[in-house]
Amino acid sequence: MKITYAGHSCFILEGSKKILIDPMPVNPQEIKADLTLITHAHSDHIGDSPEKLGLCAAIHELSGYLSGLGVKTIGMNIGGSFDFGDVKITMVKAEHSSSMNQNGLPVYMGEPCGFVVKMDGLTVYHAGDTGLFSDMKLIRKLYKPDVAILPAGGLFTMGPDECMTAAEYLGAGIVIPMHYNTFEAIKQDLTDFKKSVELTTSSRVELMKPGETLTI
Ligand code: NI
Ligand code: MN
Repeated sequence: MKITYAGHSCFILEGSKKILIDPMPVNPQEIKADLTLITHAHSDHIGDSPEKLGLCAAIHELSGYLSGLGVKTIGMNIGGSFDFGDVKITMVKAEHSSSMNQNGLPVYMGEPCGFVVKMDGLTVYHAGDTGLFSDMKLIRKLYKPDVAILPAGGLFTMGPDECMTAAEYLGAGIVIPMHYNTFEAIKQDLTDFKKSVELTTSSRVELMKPGETLTI
């Protein structure tokens, strides 16, 4: 499987299918993914032209909103899974919020979530925006992620300290931090985070730069 970090929380997983997660910095029409997963409705994840998205999986409320814009959607909810060809997609919880500004007011768009993608025998957990929660231990127990993609920028999500505990709870072979250094408020130097995680767990931390691809 090829994992490309497009920046912020956007990843492209390529194997038997091409899966785009949280498209914000990319133009989804250029990526031509088979399926796009949207963790929540904040504009730094869904992007500013949601009507241009291809086939999307999202939580029930956000899925309903998108289908009203003419987007093909697969609505689902936390704890549920579906088979997309030979790829299994599971929606898991996240501790965050999810809304969209409409006429200056925040409109509720369902709960935020993370996704577990099982493709070509490998399991990738993309946590979305979240604080640390101890049920990450359940994600480990149920899905045994090989790769955990975790926010580490702080302020809007967990920061490096909480993310260390998340890495410990998840026990993935590879940890990829996201949602940091995109703008000043979430600036982080993750050098010490990488050292500590690699010293105290069996995970390897990949500090990917936007545009980089990891083959696993
Ligand atoms: Ni958010
Ligand atoms: Mn965000």
